[in-house]
Amino acid sequence: MQRIGVLISGRGSNLQALIDAQQRGELGGGRIAVVFSNVESAPGLERARRAGIAVAFRDHRGLPREVFDGEVAEVLKAHGVELVCLAGYMRLVSPVLLRAFPGRILNVHPALLPAFPGVKAQRQALEHGVKLSGATVHLVDENLDAGPIVAQEAVPVLSSDTEDSLAARILEAEHRIYPRAVRALLEGRLSIAGRRVLVEGE
Ligand code: GRF
Repeated sequence: MQRIGVLISGRGSNLQALIDAQQRGELGGGRIAVVFSNVESAPGLERARRAGIAVAFRDHRGLPREVFDGEVAEVLKAHGVELVCLAGYMRLVSPVLLRAFPGRILNVHPALLPAFPGVKAQRQALEHGVKLSGATVHLVDENLDAGPIVAQEAVPVLSSDTEDSLAARILEAEHRIYPRAVRALLEGRLSIAGRRVLVEGE
């Protein structure tokens, strides 16, 4: 049973997708051991409590990034975490956290990376006028939204789309691919060749 730590800052719908997958037995034997937030009022913390999962909060404000990430690593290690899932975690991860979990941090992003990294990816896609956007799960490295790509799902951009309607459609894709990617990693089905992540069975 591998222990997962999920890092959030807000709503936590991707966290919920991971919880649901775990409850269906679709998380490759993984179990969410702790949900950590840097925002005390994050609604996702309530989702974790409802599912009986331990929660932790630390305020990042006023702390140097490395010091804060040292605290995050400590919390995660105290819960025996081996895999870290960023799920709407609005913080850049520093080398301190990367070194604590080498090759074991995943993130989900609401665009087909490398297009539209950073915040408001759905608005960026609309403003650029792309006809397809989507969702990406990738391994986290020291650069923003830039690590090796594990899974992607394309989502059409419709003429009638607003930022909200596109975000909602992309979110459904996020909820499908994130648990699958976590499962593949936990089942040892990922191998990395340069930037290419090969997923056995896919
Ligand atoms: C998602 O769109 C995720 O890709 C992005 O932030 C949003 C978080 O949503 N990083 P939620 O908190 O998982 O509902």
